Amino acid sequence: MKKKYIAVFASGAGSNFIEINKNILNKNINGQIKILISNNPKCGAVEYAIENNISVKIINDFRYPKKEDKNKEYENILKKNKIDLILLAGFMKKIPCDIVKIYQNRIMNIHPSLLPDFGGPGFYGYKVHEAVIKSKNKLSGATIHFVNEDYDKGPIIFQKSIEVLDIDSSKSLSKKVLKIEHEIYSKIVMQYCKNRIKIINNKVIIND
Ligand code: GRF
Repeated sequence: MKKKYIAVFASGAGSNFIEINKNILNKNINGQIKILISNNPKCGAVEYAIENNISVKIINDFRYPKKEDKNKEYENILKKNKIDLILLAGFMKKIPCDIVKIYQNRIMNIHPSLLPDFGGPGFYGYKVHEAVIKSKNKLSGATIHFVNEDYDKGPIIFQKSIEVLDIDSSKSLSKKVLKIEHEIYSKIVMQYCKNRIKIINNKVIIND
């Protein structure tokens, strides 16, 4: 089976990106990261990509002040690299609608809560975990979903929950959730690269 060509979009530390790349290098995932796209030239994800000979493309308002140029650049770079799958891994910018259309059901995102709870605009980073702690919910977790035009609302692919303990802070919760993010994102990307993930009537089916 042909390897899937992957583009990762990240703005921060890049721990999900790093974990997925490790699973590619040890052949658990039949894919190749062709490009890391970031808005932030100084983030950990970019640093790791450079150290590991993964091509990097910086796309931000500073380099592309005109929205049309910026959007065209996303499209060009994805086409040029013949990308099959886009992985959002802590990417802090909205994906242009045209890209969402072209790559329908081929863009995944990971979110650090059990969607649809604690998702949507304003729920990112520690804000998610702070809101979970405040809610006194006993469960939290991570969600992988396909990306559509509505923020954090695309079809859910997979979720894993963990217990929220009375002693948890947003910091300890984020640590626990990040651990399961690494586990499930690699697992789902592995399945996708084996063509085992399908969408039927807007519902995601995984054939293990
Ligand atoms: C993760 O918590 C992910 O769920 C969210 O952004 C964070 C990225 O972390 N979308 P990292 O950059 O992969 O370490």
